[in-house]
Amino acid sequence: MTELTKNQLLELVNTKQVAAGNPRARALTQRIVTDLFKAIDEMDVSADEFWTAMNWLERLGKSGQIGLITAGLGFDRLLDIRADEADAKAGRAGGTPRAIEGPLFVAGAPLSQGEARLDEGEPRGEVFVMEGRVLDLDGQPVAGALIDVWHANEQGGYSHFFPGMKPYELRRQVQADATGHYRFRSFLPPGYAIPPNSPTSELFEALGRHGNRPAHIHFLVVAPGLRTLTTQVNIPGDTYIDDDFAFATRDGLIVELEHGVAPAGYESLGIDAPFTRSRFDFVLQKASNDSEASPAARMARVTA
Ligand code: BEZ
Ligand code: FE
Repeated sequence: MTELTKNQLLELVNTKQVAAGNPRARALTQRIVTDLFKAIDEMDVSADEFWTAMNWLERLGKSGQIGLITAGLGFDRLLDIRADEADAKAGRAGGTPRAIEGPLFVAGAPLSQGEARLDEGEPRGEVFVMEGRVLDLDGQPVAGALIDVWHANEQGGYSHFFPGMKPYELRRQVQADATGHYRFRSFLPPGYAIPPNSPTSELFEALGRHGNRPAHIHFLVVAPGLRTLTTQVNIPGDTYIDDDFAFATRDGLIVELEHGVAPAGYESLGIDAPFTRSRFDFVLQKASNDSEASPAARMARVTA
């Protein structure tokens, strides 16, 4: 092998090929490697800086926190903005806005008909009921729509990720009734914070950024022939509502809270005293193909 200049090396890296490979993977890798070569050169990255970054990446992979970094660096919201742009271009409008799934969804939550108690019968925090309907764009109820709902515990932790929580704690799948209605009882969750002393917190400390998300509740809403909706609602009043580390807060997704609601009619949810309620309808677009109506969340879609 002869001596190489940087440009000759890049050319070789980008053109070496012993088989057809995958054209899309080739094109993307070429672009990313070219940009990284350029960044290393222009920013005069030292060998120690480079290997520090590789060590961080290796630890990040082992920590299972890649999904925190993608959200915190704006990639999750970027994909939503791009999807919104594609919809606008295709003349597809209306319905509940999408919002990032985040890395903390777990499939297979216990299924309930019409209503559920996320507190599993053990009252905790301020009693909170969220209720509404699943509708299509014509305002027709979507009978039997499946709503996955998940949120954080009092410490901002999610079951399956936070030590000491029960499997599927604060996760349920609620099937809307024949009139499209759903409701669930839980408590008002606090916000979320990235784990301290972790590869994620290391990066955000180095960037001088906080790692907090405002209080929110996640949803994945699925019904045959309709476009799967991944969204979140925010609880008003949170310090971080306009400063989400994951950039996910959106107009139309901040719920209103009604305090002191009379308990009549809520006995099946174990409520016998005034409580806090929020009404929210999920409005789903028509799916334009089977993939759009798929019940699979983001990782299940790509690993199926
Ligand atoms: C969350 O929804 O809680 C979340 C989203 C992105 C990164 C980390 C957490
Ligand atoms: Fe969350």
